Amino acid sequence: MAARVKRALARVNLAAVQRNCLRLGDALSGGAELCAVVKADGYGHGAAPCAEAALAGGASWIAVAAAGEAAHLRAAGVAAPLLIMGALTPAEIDVAAAAHAGVVTWDERFVAALAGRRLRVHVKLDTGMGRLGTRDVDLARRTVTAIDDADGLELAGVMTHFATADEVGDAFLGDQLAAFEPFAREVKARHPDAVIHAANSAATLREPRSHFDLVRCGVAIYGLDPFQRDPGEQGLEPALSLRSYVAAVKPAAPGQSAGYGRRWRAREPTHLATIPIGYGDGVRRALSNNADVVIRGRRYPLAGTVSMDNITVDLGPDTDVRLYDEAVLIGDGVSAEEWARRLDTINYEVTCGLTARVEREYHRDD
Ligand SMILES: Cc1ncc(COP(=O)(O)O)c(C=O)c1O
Repeated sequence: MAARVKRALARVNLAAVQRNCLRLGDALSGGAELCAVVKADGYGHGAAPCAEAALAGGASWIAVAAAGEAAHLRAAGVAAPLLIMGALTPAEIDVAAAAHAGVVTWDERFVAALAGRRLRVHVKLDTGMGRLGTRDVDLARRTVTAIDDADGLELAGVMTHFATADEVGDAFLGDQLAAFEPFAREVKARHPDAVIHAANSAATLREPRSHFDLVRCGVAIYGLDPFQRDPGEQGLEPALSLRSYVAAVKPAAPGQSAGYGRRWRAREPTHLATIPIGYGDGVRRALSNNADVVIRGRRYPLAGTVSMDNITVDLGPDTDVRLYDEAVLIGDGVSAEEWARRLDTINYEVTCGLTARVEREYHRDD
């Protein structure tokens, strides 16, 4: 055991990513294809291995947010069509072109900046997200025309992004669909090869009318629930577990404290385990006195303040926990959704927040 323990390890089950993609693919209507979103290093899971697993699970496109992420995937050998969904600086345009990645625009002036390179371009209509894209349908039309007229550029698609797809029962998704569809159909009538795409994971699972030609799913491919509930309700399997080990076990007498600020004190004789993982790894400090760690299949409460490199857990008065036992922080019944609730955030931020210091290890179901 001692030889195998790792200080801070994210184990990622690529077979789960593959199955989650198959599950999403099964939900698609009207021949829509699946684009797997692997930005932010695959939501903390590792972009290239997850992209390959998603492609094995039936995804036919891969999307990222930044040009450097596209370059990274190409260098790792990912050959599928790539879409860079984010805004691009002038320098990033060349990186995108070198990666043979599709780019997004919503502005004629940006089309002029793109022109002269061989690029596939998607036009984004802002139907209510209020972020990237234009709200002005005429400008979107002129942008399409500018792409048609520009040297080297090809209109690859039209897109939008939903603001409230994860809020079950909301009506705004319908409003956004109603704002998007006429423009999308109009462009498609003149550009039959243009790909219409709008849905993220939540819209894909919730609203078949949002599927169009392609859906862009991120969070769900990792088995995280876009609705912040139990991923199992959607037939999704969490792919990531976060593991460390017991680096010390010691008794704590009543009144003795653990951690900075002495925010935990023993009320009765107990034992503390020190686990060498902390906020430097993405175990957020707001989990101080507010998380459980699983050791030998049992949950133990995190005791005291999360430090940069260590946490302590309260093992109770009688303990069979030993040095080098594995400690599971996410997994074994503790979900990223549970952390998100405790932290008043979303599961996306939990896994994206795992830092580069955490070793990633890939496996398939073992
Ligand atoms: C434009 C766009 N499309 C799709 C996605 C994927 O969203 P999700 O992870 O909720 O499936 C994102 C991620 O935030 C996005 O920014």
